[in-house]
Amino acid sequence: MANVTLGVSSSIAVYKACEIVRRFRERGCEVRVIMTGNAARLVSPVVFEALSGNPVAVELFSERSARSIEHIEIAKWEELFVVAPATANVIGKFTSGVADDFLTTHYLASTAPCLIAPAMNGRMWRAAAVRENVAILENRGVAFIGPKRGSLACGEEDVGALADPEAIVEKALTLIRPMDLTGKSVVVTAGPTREYLDQVRFISNPSTGRMGYRIAEAAQRRGAEVTLISGPTEIEPPARVRLVMVETTDELSRAVKAHAPKCDYLFMAAAPSDFAPEKISAGKRSRKEGAFSLKLVPTADILKDVAAKKKKGQVFCGFAAEIGNHMQNAKRKLGDKGVDLIALNDVSGEDSGFASEQNEITLIWAGGKAEKLGKASKSELAARLLDAVLKKRGK
Ligand SMILES: Cc1cc2nc3c(=O)[nH]c(=O)nc-3n(C[C@H](O)[C@H](O)[C@H](O)COP(=O)(O)O)c2cc1C
Repeated sequence: MANVTLGVSSSIAVYKACEIVRRFRERGCEVRVIMTGNAARLVSPVVFEALSGNPVAVELFSERSARSIEHIEIAKWEELFVVAPATANVIGKFTSGVADDFLTTHYLASTAPCLIAPAMNGRMWRAAAVRENVAILENRGVAFIGPKRGSLACGEEDVGALADPEAIVEKALTLIRPMDLTGKSVVVTAGPTREYLDQVRFISNPSTGRMGYRIAEAAQRRGAEVTLISGPTEIEPPARVRLVMVETTDELSRAVKAHAPKCDYLFMAAAPSDFAPEKISAGKRSRKEGAFSLKLVPTADILKDVAAKKKKGQVFCGFAAEIGNHMQNAKRKLGDKGVDLIALNDVSGEDSGFASEQNEITLIWAGGKAEKLGKASKSELAARLLDAVLKKRGK
């Protein structure tokens, strides 16, 4: 996704930088870590080497660094520069242009968007020198995140704690992400539905809603107005997204019909039940009543129904969860339903599909052309899906 340099300095929050590397990599970013000498005394560079899969730069005058003038080489390579945690010392050096180690020398050579996540004791954070340094860097276009209030290593409850790793990664990516969905309305469906047999029992499936939630999140971050129509899930809804909770396929159908007509893009990533009991028993059916037969009838084909009313310019994407690579089924679905594309995801693999953070998607476009988005985290696939849809639309 992007080449990211992570600068790590010697705050006690240094261990949280490990999580930041992991989260960038989950999103498909290539990460190179630069540590100050003091940070390398707190945590071994080997940890970051293993997590990033790349050599870690600490010494400016090491044989390796000197041979390729590594601080310049990294500056040419990177698309984003994040410093987390940033000490008061590093912030001060950046402000005054001091370049006496690898990280500060690299900072002067870097032209990539820069995000700084400070972490320090609250008294240090409020010190006049730090306040002024932060203001100067902000004026020069450097972005900051945090610090937040929290329980600090010194035992005080104060402002000074490093922002959450996820928030740092998110904010960093907004510095380079295209806002190509600004002014667009996106509707996403996610999660399973429940079809009740009686008042307490239902038929459902293991969908967690994660794929749809990631699409909603990705679209919102690219500037879209997002409505997320979700079946019952355990996951945290993305911020700044209009959330419509539903339970049954019928409720899902009504919500989609209410929101789809005015949207620009519809992504149907929910896993609604294809069947529902013909009759719902009143109360809680007792075992004493003995065996009984359940007649299941097909539920409404939501995608087909809304696609029939699709207006010119709208893009509708259906999802097909298949066992194995059932390209034929997906192609048939595309024709049957009259949508622009089907995202075919294989739910048979242990590490893809339902309840997994990973997925593997192939897009089948109207006309039958297949486009592999590959196997990646659901966040990364959501970004790739939006890229593919917008690219196609741009043509
Ligand atoms: C255990 C320990 C924790 C520290 N935590 C912080 C911190 O959270 N923030 C900070 O600005 N300085 C902190 N310091 C002080 C810095 O490490 C010190 O200012 C150092 O010179 C900064 O070097 P660097 O910016 O090159 O990493 C800490 C020092 C020690 C020994």
